[in-house]
Amino acid sequence: MSNKLKLGFLASGGGSNVQAIIDSIKSSKLYAEACVIISNNSNAGVFERAKKKNIPHYHISNKTNPENTTKAIINALKKHDVNMVILAGYMKKIEPELIDAFDGKVLNIHPALLPKFGGKGMYGMNVHKAVLEAGEAFSGATVHLVNKKYDEGRILQQKKVPVLPDDTPESLAERVLQAEHFIYSDTLKKIESGEIKI
Ligand code: GRF
Repeated sequence: MSNKLKLGFLASGGGSNVQAIIDSIKSSKLYAEACVIISNNSNAGVFERAKKKNIPHYHISNKTNPENTTKAIINALKKHDVNMVILAGYMKKIEPELIDAFDGKVLNIHPALLPKFGGKGMYGMNVHKAVLEAGEAFSGATVHLVNKKYDEGRILQQKKVPVLPDDTPESLAERVLQAEHFIYSDTLKKIESGEIKI
C-alpha cells in the first residue's frame, strides 16, 4: 500500500490493543493515523482512551441503529476517511457488506495460534482455558484478515509465547496480551512498508 494507513477501530472492551497501536503511531514507530473508534458497548473502556487522545468515537449498536447497524458503522468509518479496519476485541459479527466496503482490508487479532483454538465460542478466557486443557507447550497471538467465516481469514503474522507449567488462564492471557500489543503494530508496519501484502 502506498497510501498512509488510515485506521478505523472496532472494539467492545478495554481497548489495550487500540492503545498499543495509538502509542506506536505517537512514537513514530508506525506511520498511520487513528481516524475513528467505534464500539457496540456504550461503557467500553476504549472510549476513555479515545477521549484522552481526541479521537472521534461513536457508540453504534443494534440498539442505537436497529435498522441497519452495519451501514451505520460503514458510514462512520467512511466519514473519517478510513482505508483499513482494525478489530480489537470486537465481539460482534462482521457482515460481508463491511468487508467489501473496505476492499477486504479488515484485520483482527486472535489470542491463540490459529488455526488452532479459533471459531465459534473461542473468545476471551475460553481460548486460554482450551489451550491449557489441551496441554499445549506454546500459545500466542495471530493477526489475520477477516473473511466471512470466524477466524478463518488469511494469517498475516503470529507471535508465539510459551505456556508455563503453573499457568492459569489469567496468567497465560496476560503473556499473550503482551504479544498482541507487539504484533498488531508490527503487522501494520509491515503492511505499510510493503513487506506484508494484503
Ligand atoms: C484481546 O485478547 C484480543 O485478542 C481479543 O480480545 C482481547 C481484547 O483486549 N479478541 P483489549 O480490549 O484490546 O484490551
